[in-house]
Amino acid sequence: MRIDVVTLFPDFVKQVTRWGITARAAEQGLLELVAWNPRLFTSDRHRTVDDRPYGGGPGMVIKAEPLQAAIRTARAADPRPVTVVYLSPQGRPLDQARVARYAAGARLVLLCGRYEGIDERVVEAEVDEEVSIGDYVLSGGELPAMVLVDAVARLLPGALGDARSAREDSFVTGLLDYPHYTRPESVEGRAVPKVLVGGDHRAIARWQRKQALGRSWLRRPELLDRARLDAEDRRLLEEFVEEYRNGCSDSGAAES
Ligand code: ADE
Repeated sequence: MRIDVVTLFPDFVKQVTRWGITARAAEQGLLELVAWNPRLFTSDRHRTVDDRPYGGGPGMVIKAEPLQAAIRTARAADPRPVTVVYLSPQGRPLDQARVARYAAGARLVLLCGRYEGIDERVVEAEVDEEVSIGDYVLSGGELPAMVLVDAVARLLPGALGDARSAREDSFVTGLLDYPHYTRPESVEGRAVPKVLVGGDHRAIARWQRKQALGRSWLRRPELLDRARLDAEDRRLLEEFVEEYRNGCSDSGAAES
């Protein structure tokens, strides 16, 4: 997969392929990340990329022409069909389904804003999807673009050591993940839940499902409204709720 990022801070964005899974995906040739600086697409002596907003108001707006020129150059650099995504707090929320859709494609162009935003005509003319990584405001789209690159890269076939990791992720199943433990069996008096060391694989799978349901109920109840639960799931969740109310839920307690 090829991802082009249009950003005033190309060196910053390229850091995302320096460590971990994304670095490995890039080394293996699964992911190619190319950054384009709109400043190099200006024609004035001062290389101006921003200007005051029409209608007044605080801050500066990134100009249309250098952005448009950078996006068009990125588009033309590869013949495969591309989705142009603008990262902004006004976008639709980034979720795992959207990440999976992007990972199934061959190309993305990510557009990063700065200052108060970008000239809206660029969005009209060039952008396919406007996407937000959450209801908070960052100083630019670079970190959101890096978040998106990371989430997409780990879904590329071969990027993860064990493909089960991606299949069992939080949200892939529509629920939060269950808690994980590794050796030693006791850490400062806290024992691993007994069932996990008993070797009964059916019991383990049941416990993990129950924890995933229970955590989702505690922390993200709206996920349960959307998830398709069968009769066994409902039974497990009832058990979890009852144990939780009795104060003996066999898992790390959820913070509020
Ligand atoms: N740019 C600034 N804040 C953002 C956010 N929350 N999501 C995506 N892009 C952004």
